[in-house]
Amino acid sequence: MKKIALCPGTYDPMTEGHRDVVLRCSKVFDKVIVAVSNNIRKKTLYSVNRRLNFVKKVLAGVKNVEVISFSGLLVNVAKESGAGVIVKGLRAISDFEYEFQMAQINKKLSPELETMFLVTNPKFAYLSSSAVKEVAKLKGCISGLVPKEIELDIIESFEKKFFN
Ligand SMILES: Nc1ncnc2c1ncn2[C@@H]1O[C@H](COP(=O)(O)OP(=O)(O)OP(=O)(O)O)[C@@H](O)[C@H]1O
Ligand SMILES: [Mg+2]
Repeated sequence: MKKIALCPGTYDPMTEGHRDVVLRCSKVFDKVIVAVSNNIRKKTLYSVNRRLNFVKKVLAGVKNVEVISFSGLLVNVAKESGAGVIVKGLRAISDFEYEFQMAQINKKLSPELETMFLVTNPKFAYLSSSAVKEVAKLKGCISGLVPKEIELDIIESFEKKFFN
């Protein structure tokens, strides 16, 4: 049986930290599904299509990675896509508290589904989508914070103030 992992997130936008987690995950599992959340309650800068296209552009060359968007319960996405494991990255205690609760809720909703954590690559421990947006907004250099494939797209979107 193929081992399929689900890497959910907002990816607003994808960072080098996200890419690192997905690539490491793709070495452990047969297939990785990167699931871009379209949760109307979380306000995002980029539209879900833009976030999805960023992730697709970055991971285009990785054979065992598929990229989808989703709304609704993650446990249902896992069921529909045949994923047995949710993989999340952990940067700090603050991530842990939130992820611990999510993992317990998902366990209650879907006992067969496991949640596993990848500890952040220390190179990217400080990195978040929010930090990237803050730096880009203030016209700082985002090189090394976001994957090269989407760096110019992000800079341009801030210059034009167009995020769709
Ligand atoms: N630098 C990083 N190292 C390891 N894991 C990360 C890193 N950045 C994000 N993640 C993980 O990726 C998953 C999706 O995160 P998400 O899309 O919310 O990004 P974020 O950087 O936390 O965004 P925001 O700043 O909006 O909170 C989460 O499990 C998060 O912990
Ligand atoms: Mg976060």
